[in-house]
Amino acid sequence: MSARRIEGEGEVLVSVEGVYKHFPIRQGIVFKKEVGRVHAVDGVDLRVRRGETLGIVGESGCGKSTLARCITGLHPVTSGRILFEGTDITGLPKSGLKAFRRDVQMIFQDPYGSLNPRRRVGSIIGDPFAVHATAAGAERKRRVQELMELVGLNPEHYNRFPAEFSGGQRQRIGVARALALRPKLIVCDEPVSALDVSIQAQVVNLLKDLQDEFGLTYVFIAHDLSLVRYVSDRVAVMYLGKVAEAAAVEDVYVRPRHPYTAALLSAASVSDPDAAERAERIVLTGDVPSPIQPPPGCRFHPRCPKAAGRCVEEDPPLIRRDGDAPGHVTACHFPVEPGESLAGREASIAQVSTQPDLPEVEQ
Ligand SMILES: Nc1ncnc2c1ncn2[C@@H]1O[C@H](COP(=O)(O)OP(=O)(O)OP(=O)(O)O)[C@@H](O)[C@H]1O
Ligand code: SF4
Ligand SMILES: [Mg+2]
Repeated sequence: MSARRIEGEGEVLVSVEGVYKHFPIRQGIVFKKEVGRVHAVDGVDLRVRRGETLGIVGESGCGKSTLARCITGLHPVTSGRILFEGTDITGLPKSGLKAFRRDVQMIFQDPYGSLNPRRRVGSIIGDPFAVHATAAGAERKRRVQELMELVGLNPEHYNRFPAEFSGGQRQRIGVARALALRPKLIVCDEPVSALDVSIQAQVVNLLKDLQDEFGLTYVFIAHDLSLVRYVSDRVAVMYLGKVAEAAAVEDVYVRPRHPYTAALLSAASVSDPDAAERAERIVLTGDVPSPIQPPPGCRFHPRCPKAAGRCVEEDPPLIRRDGDAPGHVTACHFPVEPGESLAGREASIAQVSTQPDLPEVEQ
C-alpha cells in the first residue's frame, strides 16, 4: 500500500522458508491410523518486507488461510522455518511466542463470528491490553477509546454490544483490536469479503491510512483481484499449496508468466469491461486436483494449456526467468511469452484427477 517495492528492496520482516503444513487424515475408532494427509501448504518460500503489503491470491482451498495461520503462529508448521525479524518462530518456547504475538496480529474475514456477542465492545478491544498486562482500569479505557476514534468508531459507544454495530463497524472493531498493541505485521485474511461493496472501500482505505501512519506491514489475502492490485506492493499467486508466481504487483498483472496467473487474470477481466476488450478469456478445464494427492511434477499440469512431458516429471522451481524484472519469480518450465495468447487452448495433457473422500482430519 505504500510506495511500490520489489524483491531486493527494504528490510525483510518475515521470511517463510520451505514451509509445509499437512493435516493428517485418520481413520479407525480406537487406533486412529493415519491414512493420508491434506497438503494444505506444500513447500512455500516467501519474503515480506517491512512497510509493504504482500497480496496473496489463488482459488479457494489453495492454502492461503493455512499459510496465514502458520505466519501468525496459530498453526504449528509440519516442516520449514518462519523467521520474524530474523528469529525462527517455529521453534520458540511459549515465553518467546508471547512477544511475537504482540508484534503480529490477524484480521479475519467474518466480523460477526470473530466478536463475542455477549461482551461489550470496549472490553473486546481492550482484550490485548489485559492478556499482555500492558494497561488496566481507567488507562485501558482511555486507550481503547483512542483506538475507537482512530478507526472511525464513536468512543462513546464503548459499552455497546457487537450486535449494535453494522458489518463495516464490526470490522473496524476487529481492526482496533488488532492495532491495540501496535503490531509490526497484520495478516488480513479476506478482511472485507463479507462486507457490502460500498463499505469495502472505506475499510480498505482505513487500513491504508493506518499503514501510512504506523508504518505497518500487511499480508493481505483476498479473492478480488482488483482489490489485491489496489492494496498490494507485491503479489504471490498460490496454486494447490505452492506459490506459482510472485512479483511486484504491476509485473504480475501486466506481464503474468505462469499460465495459471494468466488464466486467473483473464477470468477476472470478464467483470472489468475495459480489460475484457483487451483480453480474451482463458478457460481452465478440469477440476482443481485434490490436495490429498497433488499431481506429480508441476501440480498445475492437468489443467495447463502449455503442459508437456517434462511438466509431469519435474516440479518446476520458483525462480526468476530470462527477461523478468528483479523479484519476479515463476514456477513454470514454459512460462507465457510476451504476446503469447492462451485463449481457446485446452489442457494439453490428459488428466486423471482423483478426489478421495475426506474422512476425519486432525490438526
Ligand atoms: N484445520 C484443518 N484441518 C484439515 N484440513 C484443513 C484445515 N484447514 C484447512 N484445511 C484444508 O487445507 C486446504 C487449504 O485450506 P485453506 O483454508 O488454507 O484454503 P484457502 O486458500 O484459504 O481457501 P478459501 O479461499 O476458501 O478461504 C483445504 O483443502 C482445506 O480443506
Ligand atoms: S510447468 Fe508445465 S504444466 Fe506447469 S505451468 Fe508451466 S507449462 Fe504448465
Ligand atoms: Mg481462506
